[in-house]
Amino acid sequence: MANPYYAPGEQRGAKVGELFAAIAPRYDLLNDLQSFGLHRLWKRRLVRRAQPRPGERALDVCCGTGDLALALAREGAVVTGVDFCEPMLAIARGRSRRQTPRGRRIAARRGHLYTEPEFVAGDALRLAFADGHFGLVTVGYGLRNLASWEGGIEEMWRVLGLGGRLLVLEFGKPSCRVWRRVYFAYLRRALPPLGRLVSGNAAAYAYILTSLEHYPAPDGVQRKLAALGARTRTELFFGGVMTLHCGRKL
Ligand SMILES: C[S@@+](CC[C@H](N)C(=O)[O-])C[C@H]1O[C@@H](n2cnc3c(N)ncnc32)[C@H](O)[C@@H]1O
Repeated sequence: MANPYYAPGEQRGAKVGELFAAIAPRYDLLNDLQSFGLHRLWKRRLVRRAQPRPGERALDVCCGTGDLALALAREGAVVTGVDFCEPMLAIARGRSRRQTPRGRRIAARRGHLYTEPEFVAGDALRLAFADGHFGLVTVGYGLRNLASWEGGIEEMWRVLGLGGRLLVLEFGKPSCRVWRRVYFAYLRRALPPLGRLVSGNAAAYAYILTSLEHYPAPDGVQRKLAALGARTRTELFFGGVMTLHCGRKL
């Protein structure tokens, strides 16, 4: 059965926007439940690999409720989070306000400044920033949702300065066929009921597998980064269930 939130072509963005607006209040809780908390580890790994420098300008694309943007800010980066879903941004801004005192304490201990991230509305496919504006660009679980994942990478690459790093964290496709079957069965059978139970929306969680089936992880993304001239490194977590791409602009 077709997923109501998946529409190829021009309708894609609007459908994805509807999906995240519908699940925003329960998004963080469901992330913890569906990944058994592991998304926190994978995001921490991204931040370690990103090596944000105090005062460095960083952009977190498809920032959602702000996990990555807030983590990069704690490391001293001056972060902009961009997302086109206002209900997700509203949660990010609320979390940010609550984190600020702790962020300042951590920064003071480490001898750098804490800058509260700015969360702005915008489309990942048309970023409103100048070429080469950021030293670091990250995207967590966003690329798979874009109407054009290739267009998204090109846009993120455009706003990245020379020597900058682009990090892409996304669902993967295990190469071991048995493991892939187990993992896809989990996405197909366990996530929709969990989504229904916690957020009253089964289709939003069935969408994860649908979108993954249309996403060329991990080889397509790796090839695209290489074609842009990036020095790339790809890490697979949990037997390929998750992928972290790091590309440096030379
Ligand atoms: C799965 S969430 C990821 C949120 C966050 N990065 C995280 O790791 O928890 C995907 C986010 O991408 C946003 N998004 C999808 N397509 C977008 C687009 N074209 N432009 C901006 N944001 C987009 C959605 O609104 C949603 O907040």
